[in-house]
Amino acid sequence: MNNDLNSLVSNESDEQKVTPFEVEKISNYNKVITQFGCTPFSNDGNDPLFERFEKLTGVKMPSCYRHFLISHREFGEILNAYEKEKPIYLYTGRGPSSENMHLGHMIPFKFCKFLQDALNAPLVIQITDDEKYIFKDLTMDKIAKMAKENIKDIIACGFNVNKTFVFLNSQSMGMMYPMIIKIQKLVTLKDVLNTFGFPLDGKDTTLGKVAFPPVQAAPAFAETFIKHFLTKNGQFTEKDVRKIKCLVPCAIDQDPYFRMCRGISNQLEHSKPALIHFSFLPSLNGVDTKMSSSTPQSCIFLTDTVSQIRKKINKCFSGGKELLEEHKLLGGNTNNDVSFQLLKFFMDNDEKLKELEYGFNKGEITCSQMKGIAIEKITEHIERFKENRAKVDEDIYSQFTDVNKTLFFCYFFVL
Ligand code: TRP
Repeated sequence: MNNDLNSLVSNESDEQKVTPFEVEKISNYNKVITQFGCTPFSNDGNDPLFERFEKLTGVKMPSCYRHFLISHREFGEILNAYEKEKPIYLYTGRGPSSENMHLGHMIPFKFCKFLQDALNAPLVIQITDDEKYIFKDLTMDKIAKMAKENIKDIIACGFNVNKTFVFLNSQSMGMMYPMIIKIQKLVTLKDVLNTFGFPLDGKDTTLGKVAFPPVQAAPAFAETFIKHFLTKNGQFTEKDVRKIKCLVPCAIDQDPYFRMCRGISNQLEHSKPALIHFSFLPSLNGVDTKMSSSTPQSCIFLTDTVSQIRKKINKCFSGGKELLEEHKLLGGNTNNDVSFQLLKFFMDNDEKLKELEYGFNKGEITCSQMKGIAIEKITEHIERFKENRAKVDEDIYSQFTDVNKTLFFCYFFVL
């Protein structure tokens, strides 16, 4: 495998370590993006690629996504493929390590739903129950229950049932194994240790951990789904299926898996997966840590009641001054105001956001006013989610997770 995979774990400074298995603190995304070798989006939300996306698809890229998309790998290639009517599909996933999903988990899924509609593309969603069994102290029984609840939450994001396939790893090894062994044959132990930051001498670096990366990597190659992806004429040939392009929307910490894929794509004679990366939703406790289910006070869960949401946001970290008089005089700082940072996602209105930012930083908008707006917007969002979630019954669940599911590429394309 390519040497460029070496030493790409972002742990150069002690205060910031980013691997798929531990994200303690992210205070500087630019540093991670540079270290990982990704291409940053311009940070004013107006990257030319977004304009090109809009021109090609005729769909506006909502500002809530523009604010959270930080970088990519060859997103332009996906747009090229779309322009030429070549087949593309989307791949994302979820590790079921908690029964309740929180707002931060929903962002990539909501974005996938948006992309699925805009690009009219099939989407595959991997549920890594195996990963959570290997990496956490949980039983398979417990994980199975969480996975089921999580899958229902994911379905409630509104995916098109004819274009979406959700699969549980422990039940899909037959489908993935041919691709997994191809990856395992090419990637060395040294590559995996370097790319994923597993300690070399660690007694905790088990076989399960080092064998897992090819499992998450496999679905980024369309060949995995040769029996599931269909054209109007039926199954793709092996040669043709390898030309299908994959776009992986994911949080930046998941990049190493796909960097690994891209490093071996040529040897596999398979198109390289493209990526589009999200930053994390900030913790209620402060903007330089992320919302994390392991710290329940840091997040708003999709099951939280209106009064829980109100209480949590009223307590969240504020970028305003402690005393009202002082705030009015000196102004606050929206950069570390959690309510404002959350509103960047939940209020899709750039002008209003600008007004809030200006007003808060001048001291004209108070902390409690900012919190009040955040409470209103987030409550609306969660209530809408709950309505959709209540409609996800067993029948819908089995339609999304049918192991024999087929997904059609609907336009006629030139390979
Ligand atoms: N490992 C991811 C998690 O713990 C789940 C996952 C599997 C994933 N495949 C993916 C995430 C592809 C993004 C893209 O949540």
